[in-house]
Amino acid sequence: MRTTTTTTTTEHRITMLLLLRTKTASMSRAVFGARHNRTELETSSSSCYNDHHHHRRHRHQEDNTLRTTARYPLRQNGRRRRRCVASKIYSSSSSSSSMDDFLTITKPDDWHLHVRDGSKITSVVPHTARQFDRALIMPNLTPPVRTAEEAGTYRKLITEAAKETNARFEPHMTLYLTDETSEAIVEDAAKSGYVRGFKLYPAGATTNSSFGVTDVKRVMPALRKMAELGLILQVHGEVTHQTVDIFDCEARYIDEVLKPLLDEVKDLRVVMEHITTKNAADFVSTFPEDGRLAATITPQHVLLNRNALFKGGMRPHVFCLPILKREEHREAVLNAAVGTKSERFFLGTDSAPHPKGAKESACGCAGVFSAHAALNFYAMAFDSVGKLDKLEAGKNYGEMVDMTEKI
Ligand code: NCD
Ligand code: ZN
Repeated sequence: MRTTTTTTTTEHRITMLLLLRTKTASMSRAVFGARHNRTELETSSSSCYNDHHHHRRHRHQEDNTLRTTARYPLRQNGRRRRRCVASKIYSSSSSSSSMDDFLTITKPDDWHLHVRDGSKITSVVPHTARQFDRALIMPNLTPPVRTAEEAGTYRKLITEAAKETNARFEPHMTLYLTDETSEAIVEDAAKSGYVRGFKLYPAGATTNSSFGVTDVKRVMPALRKMAELGLILQVHGEVTHQTVDIFDCEARYIDEVLKPLLDEVKDLRVVMEHITTKNAADFVSTFPEDGRLAATITPQHVLLNRNALFKGGMRPHVFCLPILKREEHREAVLNAAVGTKSERFFLGTDSAPHPKGAKESACGCAGVFSAHAALNFYAMAFDSVGKLDKLEAGKNYGEMVDMTEKI
């Protein structure tokens, strides 16, 4: 997988100890603390904490996720952590690492990130800024970020929130594509210098998608203009028909919408976001043209299969959209990330924090928060197939997006 990089050579040292000892993945949930206006992070087991704010208080009961070291406050302390297992679905290929084992990679970018609005921005952005210098910020706020001007305002807030943690952190923006997105909006976006593309949410497909596109035919003029001006279409690739099984929505989208769209708008470059299926992995890997189609991959979709949703009971904190799939799909996505066409697959966490009450509810919302340990999660997944060397691959978002040139 391409972990696209900045032009700087800042290095990350990722301790492998806890991964290799416990071989477990622990996704976290975000809790927006009402009193302190900040995010508290808990692991999937309510008895454990992995928020750095709680680090001192819970020194001896941290979870078993990997921790970044050196520059980062999430330093693990050498003690065996309490097990907080969201899922244990793979076996690690390595077994002999010690505290001295580190992985050093060039700092990557996160090409799919939700940082929300209001005080939540300041809660969540530092988690990403600690591990990344750049991220593509998703526009699904209420109301959505639809114009370059709105994105400019949002971008300043994010930069401000990151400043203390990482003054170099640079948010790149994608705008929310709606039935009303005009060619003029696309032109303004292209001129802005910080808008990289438009995000297509099929209306009703996911969190805050009600403003989304009702029919791709309605946005054809905007898509042609994007192709002309070199903006990228980021796609949430799921059909929304009520009659289609939730586990089939991504595969159906490829056949019913994406293939025809790529045929019709010849120069449009597309990133299929957060792919979850063998169908998507194969479609992207075998696409006949280089530099036109890529995909982002989240940590949860390479670490967990759909059993994780029901392990010992319902697990709202690993519920996201597209939903986790069968094991064969998890394997296929991970294999694509480390495979011969790995340059078409990019790191995009889709870290999507929600208030605790909104997750743990009779109608819990979709989204997995992973920003606090994103790289560590990817390292766990890559290590599970003995391909840690593939974690660092590219210098930029590929011919697809060519971001580094603009830095
Ligand atoms: C995301 C969110 O919460 O904004 N949720 C999710 O399950 N992935 C939206 C999205 O990317 O689909
Ligand atoms: Zn997302």
